[in-house]
Amino acid sequence: MIVLGLESSCDETAVALVTAERRILAQRVASQVEVHAPFGGVVPELAARAHVERLTPMADAVLAEAGLVLADVDAIAATAGPGLVGAVMVGLVTGQALALGAEKPFIPVNHLEAHALSPRLVDPSLRFPYLLLLVSGGHCQLVGVEAVGRYRRLATTIDDAAGEAFDKVAKLLGLGFPGGPAVEAEARLGDPAAVPLPRPLVGSHEPHFSFAGLKTAVLRAVETGRHAPVDIAAGFQEAVTACLVDRTARALEAFPAATALVAAGGVAANGAIRAALATLAGQHGVRLVVPPPALCTDNAAMVAWAAIERREAGLADDPDMAARPRWPLDPAAEPVRGAGVKA
Ligand code: KG4
Ligand code: ZN
Repeated sequence: MIVLGLESSCDETAVALVTAERRILAQRVASQVEVHAPFGGVVPELAARAHVERLTPMADAVLAEAGLVLADVDAIAATAGPGLVGAVMVGLVTGQALALGAEKPFIPVNHLEAHALSPRLVDPSLRFPYLLLLVSGGHCQLVGVEAVGRYRRLATTIDDAAGEAFDKVAKLLGLGFPGGPAVEAEARLGDPAAVPLPRPLVGSHEPHFSFAGLKTAVLRAVETGRHAPVDIAAGFQEAVTACLVDRTARALEAFPAATALVAAGGVAANGAIRAALATLAGQHGVRLVVPPPALCTDNAAMVAWAAIERREAGLADDPDMAARPRWPLDPAAEPVRGAGVKA
């Protein structure tokens, strides 16, 4: 089984061809960093327009690279949400049109489910259940992954996502966009103890996240003009790390069946955060799995793979589904006040 996957839920346009035998035949990701950088964040209309321009040529290129034509593909999958609705719509409608034209089945995919299952594409030994820490610019969740299609959302953010906080702090420190890698580089040069910063929700019973107060504290620290940016970056990164570790520890206690801790999303690329999570996993007797960076950040191989997993599990979805700006993985999860925009 070969699936052509499309991803367009935020600011990455991506296409991939993946087989049920876990082979990525070809894949491309086009970042829109240069489109949004002048604005310091993702502009939804510009994202949608860039997807329109790039998606079809990228699909052609991926097929050509694999030496295939659309007729060779068994199914087409695309992210149907959650995400920026205009952006999601571009990939979804493109996928539906390609499927209709080629008379192939179309599989709509939940972007969060794609992140949740992505580590199984590279690691066949990863068994259910596992705990997923999904930390990116748009998501900040702890999810108990029980089986394909069965997810328990243990925690979400009550305000910003962790990556969003990195991006905003980078902006405050004049480090540019996207901020995560720049803050990490800056933090390496600073003293994390020089600027005391809060660790929101640490110690609270529910494993939820909050970063708005931390961001405001960084703003105050910048405004005093008394601290070196490297120290602010180091203090901020240490505070975020402490929050992620404490909240994840709480979730591991609440989900003792987990055999592994999986960290995915752009923030999982942060070396200090990965190291702290590895220590935490060791303390809890579970292994830490971090998919390679190309699978950790938004990509289409995970979309194709999620479609394959759902097919193999006998789960079917409405091929005519409309784009969903919100699409919780766990429909039973209580909405949390002010929870992150995208999930
Ligand atoms: O998963 P991703 O590529 O896209 C989505 O947001 O869905 O994640 C991007 C986010 C950005 O907020 C970026 O600043 C953050 O991940 N990020 C990092 C690092 N690399 C990327 N945050 C902290 N440290 C990093 N090294
Ligand atoms: Zn994502």
